[in-house]
Amino acid sequence: MAMPNAILTKVKPITLSPLPWADNALEPFISKNTISFHYGKHHQTYVDRLNELIAGKPEADMPLEDIVRSTVGDPKKVEILHNAQQTWNHTFYWNSLRPNGGGKPPREIAEKIESSFGGYDAFKKTFAEAAVGQFGSGWAWLIAEGGKLKVVATPDGEDLLPTSATPLLTLDVWEHAYYLDYQNRRKDYVVAAIDSLLNWEFATQNLSRRSD
Ligand code: FE2
Repeated sequence: MAMPNAILTKVKPITLSPLPWADNALEPFISKNTISFHYGKHHQTYVDRLNELIAGKPEADMPLEDIVRSTVGDPKKVEILHNAQQTWNHTFYWNSLRPNGGGKPPREIAEKIESSFGGYDAFKKTFAEAAVGQFGSGWAWLIAEGGKLKVVATPDGEDLLPTSATPLLTLDVWEHAYYLDYQNRRKDYVVAAIDSLLNWEFATQNLSRRSD
């Protein structure tokens, strides 16, 4: 009797995490078309390429976070690092957004935002400026570090896993995240995400797990 394909096929070590909502759930702010390319093509390709690169190597037995942390600074493993970071960042990004999200956060985060930025409006301005001002491709992050909340931007696929910061939320500002819906108007995408999509419940969960 022939063996079922599932048994013969080697299980890939890194898998594409499922979206936390339906692919049209972020409309009208982010279209189903954008999600289908961004998740189904871009994110999937990072996962597939990572699996190709780590096949037969020590990284194939590591959790994704350990792949990032162990390859940072190794010039021979730059491509593994980049694809691992982009795999991790996108899963974190999908969870940073939700339908009927955005706007002012719940009390625990609101108090931290008040003490760290001076209020929600100041946070929004700082986060939007970081996201819009990131030159070229990258990410804007709300992080907890040293007992305070901060906003930072990182270029390309760079993330904060190798640092002491605890990421709470991220926004992808690569053109593929918004170009089909907003063309060159990155600011409109950023403001729409802040006002209507940020997942403050996810941020609250991450804040409760912070290490500092
Ligand atoms: Fe992306």
